[in-house]
Amino acid sequence: MTLQHERAPVGDLHDLVTRREPGHSLEATFYTSADVFDLDLRAIFERHWLFVATEPELPEPGDYVTVEIGTSSVIVLRDDDEQVRAFHNVCRHRGSRLLDAPCGSVGNLVCPYHHWVYGVDGSLMHADNQPPTMDRSRYGLRPVHARTVGGFVFVCLADEPPADFDEVMSRVEPFLTPYGMAGAKVAHQVDIVEEGNWKLVMENNRECYHCDGHPELLTAYFPLHGYTADDVPPRLQPVWDRFEEATTALADSCTRSGFPQEWIRELDTRPTGFLVEHAPLDGAGQSYSDGGKAVCRKRMGAIDDARFGDLHLHLQPNSWFHMLSDHAVVFSVLPISPTRTFLRTTWLVHPDAVEGVDYDVESLTHVWNATNTQDSVFVARTQRGVQDPGYLPGPYSEVEGDVEAFVAWYVGRLQAYFEVGADGDLGARPGR
Ligand code: FES
Ligand SMILES: [Fe+2]
Repeated sequence: MTLQHERAPVGDLHDLVTRREPGHSLEATFYTSADVFDLDLRAIFERHWLFVATEPELPEPGDYVTVEIGTSSVIVLRDDDEQVRAFHNVCRHRGSRLLDAPCGSVGNLVCPYHHWVYGVDGSLMHADNQPPTMDRSRYGLRPVHARTVGGFVFVCLADEPPADFDEVMSRVEPFLTPYGMAGAKVAHQVDIVEEGNWKLVMENNRECYHCDGHPELLTAYFPLHGYTADDVPPRLQPVWDRFEEATTALADSCTRSGFPQEWIRELDTRPTGFLVEHAPLDGAGQSYSDGGKAVCRKRMGAIDDARFGDLHLHLQPNSWFHMLSDHAVVFSVLPISPTRTFLRTTWLVHPDAVEGVDYDVESLTHVWNATNTQDSVFVARTQRGVQDPGYLPGPYSEVEGDVEAFVAWYVGRLQAYFEVGADGDLGARPGR
């Protein structure tokens, strides 16, 4: 189906943002309009830290991945000093794309057009037929801010990235370090194009109200997010009882190993909104598999308890992470168009885990491949619904608190953009 993306006057966008009714899903225009999509790129994706890759995808100097963020293409690569750097994937001569492949390895970066040559530090090393007096230092690749935290790679396209990122990551890192992610091994990666706006993909991730649609996930996942002992519905009471028992066992395990036990939820109160929770798993309690048993024989990093639950991290605007005793599965969301979204899922295991011996890809990926496929259907159904003239925003339930937090964060960041920008002028590109 072809959708005619709406164009909305700029003033209307400002009104649209300010009149958002808390506790309700967004108006249709947020999910369908080309202008809102442009606004999302500028106000959200060009101004915030984005999770785009894992360090194990770049094990050696010269290894790279290319990342498409709306109209921007970014090269993320490891330089000769083993630091992860990022550059705009744009030649400084006349602008040709430099790298086309999604990943690979280079000695130098050579533009396919007129063969300017750049080092992996971005410096211009050679340019044919330019005068000897050419000041090459002026024509290095334009850098993009890049950071690695706990084995994960983040980039920010803004000139001045949100200043709270370092503080957030200093609080997150103690949870990640024991998993040894920087030295882990990529076991599998799957890219999906979701037939829905990127916000529908994120909103869907932020709740488990729909988790009856995930039978594979539910054999290991406690679908209790948002409930308390006082309001858990009777049908979930047996699940709640197992959850309480498993919670006690996990707390004891954390105490023994010195693993941090704080749960942090600052999803909509800061530019780098985040959540860290360490929840037990159902069934065997070890991993995301049929029945919750481990799917890899080697445990991650320094984790010494197979029943170590799911350390999950949610970051605004585009990622979520599940860290388990035997593997990690991590998700990056990037917008393609108002109605299409790229979702990359990466499974990681201990570096010494051998495929076919310690794990097999089918068992490792079964639960989240199935869950992703089911979620894709939910997202596509919702996209079709919200672009129907019959759609009106509806109320969130009390177990959709993190959806509200995501939307509140999003609206708050748009408002911050309008305040800094020229009265919501979509042509403005504020520096902060
Ligand atoms: S555009 Fe890259 S060398 Fe000319
Ligand atoms: Fe889901």
